[in-house]
Amino acid sequence: MTTLDQSETQRDNPDVADLTARRFQRMRPFGGRPAPRVDTSGLPPGPRWPVWAQSVALIRFRHRFVPRMWRRYGDVFTVRILSGGRPLVLFTRPEHAKEIFAGDPEIFHAGKGNAILGPVMGEHSLLLQDGREHKRARSLLMPAFNGHALRGYRGLVDEVARDQVAQWRPDEEFRSLDRMNALTLEVILRVVFGVTDERRLASLRPCVNRTVNVSPAVLLGWGYPVLQRFGPWKRTVDNAYRLDRLMYAEIRERRRATDLAERTDVLSRLIRAGEEGDEGDRLTDEELRDQLVTLLLAGHETTASALAWALHELGSDPSLLARARSAAREADDDYLEAVLKESMRLHPVIPMVVRTLMRPSTIGGWRLPAGATVGPSILIAHSRADNHPDPERFDPERFLGQNPPVNTWIPFGGGVRRCIGAGFSLLEGVAVLRAILTAYDVAAVGADEPRVRNITSVPRHGSRVRLTRSE
Ligand code: HEM
Repeated sequence: MTTLDQSETQRDNPDVADLTARRFQRMRPFGGRPAPRVDTSGLPPGPRWPVWAQSVALIRFRHRFVPRMWRRYGDVFTVRILSGGRPLVLFTRPEHAKEIFAGDPEIFHAGKGNAILGPVMGEHSLLLQDGREHKRARSLLMPAFNGHALRGYRGLVDEVARDQVAQWRPDEEFRSLDRMNALTLEVILRVVFGVTDERRLASLRPCVNRTVNVSPAVLLGWGYPVLQRFGPWKRTVDNAYRLDRLMYAEIRERRRATDLAERTDVLSRLIRAGEEGDEGDRLTDEELRDQLVTLLLAGHETTASALAWALHELGSDPSLLARARSAAREADDDYLEAVLKESMRLHPVIPMVVRTLMRPSTIGGWRLPAGATVGPSILIAHSRADNHPDPERFDPERFLGQNPPVNTWIPFGGGVRRCIGAGFSLLEGVAVLRAILTAYDVAAVGADEPRVRNITSVPRHGSRVRLTRSE
């Protein structure tokens, strides 16, 4: 087993360093190409502000901006975004979401919108691919997230959740978002990557944390390779070399593991999935690396944010907390899952999902040009009173023994791009809530509100809570 000195840049393994360097060359944000021109006549209404102001409003102040646009312009509106004032048409009704989710994947591309993540995730990433490549990758990954596989993860997820919670001290006040991030990271490393060696885990944690915390400014800087020699860009590139070396070491060792056939982690399942199929289905080391980093980035902070909000809501309402604690003690997972789902409804982690049109298409009666980006607003879908009566109220009962009407609750998107980790995140969230609530009383400390962090929304103050031990 290789152990790593944190000070190494890890460029000394030529084989792996080559793979990393090639990724940086190939994966410039937006593919190094200028955005295509879009015919903007006849689009749904929208603000006439300068493009930069609309982009900033959408990215930084989406929680106020999008509802304001909805009230001002109605159920379908257009926002102009950088680069080049490209139109983003947002839809807010369930029937619109249905049309978009059911759109032909050859025409409704999702990978384009994620291109900025290319240098980190890599070209094989499920999130970045479209069309036939996406279909192939998805069919290889899906078995690792189906019901049978999820049942196989349950024991280890429970164990990691209990171990982590057992290390907390009672009567402390803390930012639950930070604790949840540490916890979901541990779940990814052990259950998804399947790493068990303590020394490798210790090397991976800081690398993975730095990868997750990469800022949009650093990502955009990748369009200018010269920047990679300076400041935060250099640190990020060095970290990428280090992470890749650890990941490739893990992947190569795992391929040779004598217990590969019995292992239940996602990486081992992906290796086996390829070996059971024909030659074309075999995932290369590079593909495995890209998919693992994708699962890490997509599955870590998202679940942590949903959990932090759930604790905030339970900690603000003693009667709900009492109900959730008895559910935890009685292993009533349905109620805990309802708490999590309601937390994702009231505080959507991802505000919208988008598709770029490869050909002119009609949605909600609007004829839209090729090159336009379209998407359902999750924020509005979850806060419309005609979708969810009394929408401001946190009420898990909405999800008990029933589901809200179709396409009114869409935290995981939909169609062929629906979040592959939806079931995993619910399983994990329930395990974490159960571990916390069987041991502790939770009290929220102060109010909180959403804040944009990269792509996700998180509680601005980290959802501060105080836990007290109680039997
Ligand atoms: C609260 C937790 C989570 C939320 C709210 C969430 C949300 C989303 C959303 C909105 C999408 C885009 C769907 C679309 O375009 O229609 C997505 C895609 C994805 N998510 Fe999640 N996610 C969560 C947890 C996870 C976890 C735990 C994993 C993996 C371990 C994961 C892996 C992925 C992947 C790989 C995709 C890309 C799917 C594709 O393009 O085919 N997510 N997620």
